[in-house]
Amino acid sequence: MIVLGIDTSCDDTSAAIVQDGRHIKSSIVRSQLRLHEPHGGVVPEVASRAHLGDIAGVVRDALKAAALTFDAIDAIGVTYGPGLSGSLRVGLGYAKGLALARGLALLPVNHLEGHVYSNWLIADQDQPMAEPRFPVLVLVVSGGHTELLLMTEHCQYLLLGSTKDDAAGEAFDKVGRQLGLGFPGGPAIQRAARAYQERSQAKPDVEPPPVLPRAWLRGTFDFSFSGLKTAVWHLLEATSRQRGGDVDDGTRSAIAYAFQESVVDVLATKVVAAATQHRVATVCVCGGVASNEALRARVAGLCRVPVYIPPPALCVDNGAMIAAAAFYRARHIPKADCPDDPFVVDAEASAPLPAMSTPGRFPAGEG
Ligand code: KG4
Ligand code: ZN
Repeated sequence: MIVLGIDTSCDDTSAAIVQDGRHIKSSIVRSQLRLHEPHGGVVPEVASRAHLGDIAGVVRDALKAAALTFDAIDAIGVTYGPGLSGSLRVGLGYAKGLALARGLALLPVNHLEGHVYSNWLIADQDQPMAEPRFPVLVLVVSGGHTELLLMTEHCQYLLLGSTKDDAAGEAFDKVGRQLGLGFPGGPAIQRAARAYQERSQAKPDVEPPPVLPRAWLRGTFDFSFSGLKTAVWHLLEATSRQRGGDVDDGTRSAIAYAFQESVVDVLATKVVAAATQHRVATVCVCGGVASNEALRARVAGLCRVPVYIPPPALCVDNGAMIAAAAFYRARHIPKADCPDDPFVVDAEASAPLPAMSTPGRFPAGEG
């Protein structure tokens, strides 16, 4: 089954063609970073207008890169939520029109489920890995979400924990702004943290990084990052006062390193505890923050079961993950569970993951 996957949930216009949920024939992502950068964040109205201008060309480029025509496509998978309402409507409207005009099946996909299924995509055709074995523990860490899910089978999720305030990516973006590192904060903080590490390895007398708090939220698999953001703010204020208003690049990179360590420590510790408690066969990490090199290394180093983390290009938003999720949903969810008429599916700002049950417990005394 060949699926055209479309995602316009935030600030990237993306389309991809994927065969049988795993084989990427093409993947095109047109970034709007240049448009949003001067504003220090995504401007919803600017994003939806840019999607409108780009969507047709991005789909055409995906077909061209796969050397296919519309005749080869069996279905269209498209993100219906969660995301920016105006942005979602562009992709959804385009996909609906295309499906009607071409007589193709329309498969509405939850954006989070898309991130989950990025772990099923074969990133390197020369080294195709087996599918993740169930039960699977999934950590979704993106700009809008931080969720620990237990997947017992395809498209079935138990929500073990989630963030009580900011998402991990949101915290990276906000702290990146506080530190004057630019937008998006995630890659900028990673670069600054790496610079600090390299400096401290080269010169052992370099100032030690500050110690920032860990919000463990003991007894739960939930997360909280807003206090950490406030701690960075206080640290910056205090340092600036001490030094007469000057916080040099070296100190900023030391703070970036400390912040990254704090986030990675909590995420990785809870992943390992949940994996142990639920005796999972596989751990999957996905979403934009899963691009973070420190998080990737920590989770891979601590887990005793196989760990799947897509390459960075498949961690951030892309159409291939939407095509993969559409394929597995079509294959595993009986028709009765799908909306009667997919053409009525509309963008919802906070669409929940389907078939999600109540939170699980964190083992007493851990974390
Ligand atoms: O999944 P994604 O592309 O979009 C959403 O669905 O939100 O995630 C974007 C988020 C942003 O907050 C960005 O700062 C973060 O992922 N991010 C990173 C890194 N690369 C992207 N965070 C930490 N380290 C990175 N290397
Ligand atoms: Zn995303």
